[in-house]
Amino acid sequence: MLEGKNVNLRVQEKEDLPLVAEWLNDPEFFGVFSPLRQQSKTELEKGFDKVTPETKWFFIEKKDGSKIGGISHFPAGKLLEIGYALIPSERGKGYCTEAAKIMVDYLFLAKDIVRIQTHIDPRNIASWKVIEKAGFKKEGTVRKSSFFKGEWRDMLLYSILREEWKEPKILTKTISRE
Ligand SMILES: CC(C)(COP(=O)(O)OP(=O)(O)OC[C@H]1O[C@@H](n2cnc3c(N)ncnc32)[C@H](O)[C@@H]1OP(=O)(O)O)[C@@H](O)C(=O)NCCC(=O)NCCS
Repeated sequence: MLEGKNVNLRVQEKEDLPLVAEWLNDPEFFGVFSPLRQQSKTELEKGFDKVTPETKWFFIEKKDGSKIGGISHFPAGKLLEIGYALIPSERGKGYCTEAAKIMVDYLFLAKDIVRIQTHIDPRNIASWKVIEKAGFKKEGTVRKSSFFKGEWRDMLLYSILREEWKEPKILTKTISRE
């Protein structure tokens, strides 16, 4: 488990997949700026069995252990990308900003990578505020790069480089390499 001040990140286990399936299939969970998903528990189980060290899903948990969302890292070619979502009732309280900071600390401590990136719909103000507060910089617009809700959309590309991160901001525990 990765411990922050107000939230922790806990790796998802196979027995968590029913809850994950419930969230993934709920359009409210990913909100209006993300693709519509429909995934069965069987598909999720197959995906779970193929997980590599480059792909990992974490629950965002409050300190009382309640699960309020998810944050993941996954390969984008040879680079690592992150994605995240919270249940609607827990948004706007700073939890995802903290989760993103924990994830950045974890990835730079645990992996020999030089950058972490993410793509965000330009209208998703909450998401780009989260990522800017976590130290990411906007690189530019990747035109017509994501298909969802029936059309090809421009996305903002954000990244943080290892030299910009410098040192852990939240994680203080030593983490061994995966
Ligand atoms: C994006 C998301 C994860 C943000 O998480 P969060 O915990 O609510 O974010 P935080 O509370 O840490 O901070 C969000 C910031 O955006 C602001 N914000 C939140 N909702 C907003 C909205 N609808 N419009 C404008 N600003 C908004 C908050 O006020 C806060 O700003 P501040 O730092 O100036 O106070 C959450 O809204 C979500 O789950 N959305 C649906 C899934 C999604 O879009 N994922 C990202 C895909 S790229």
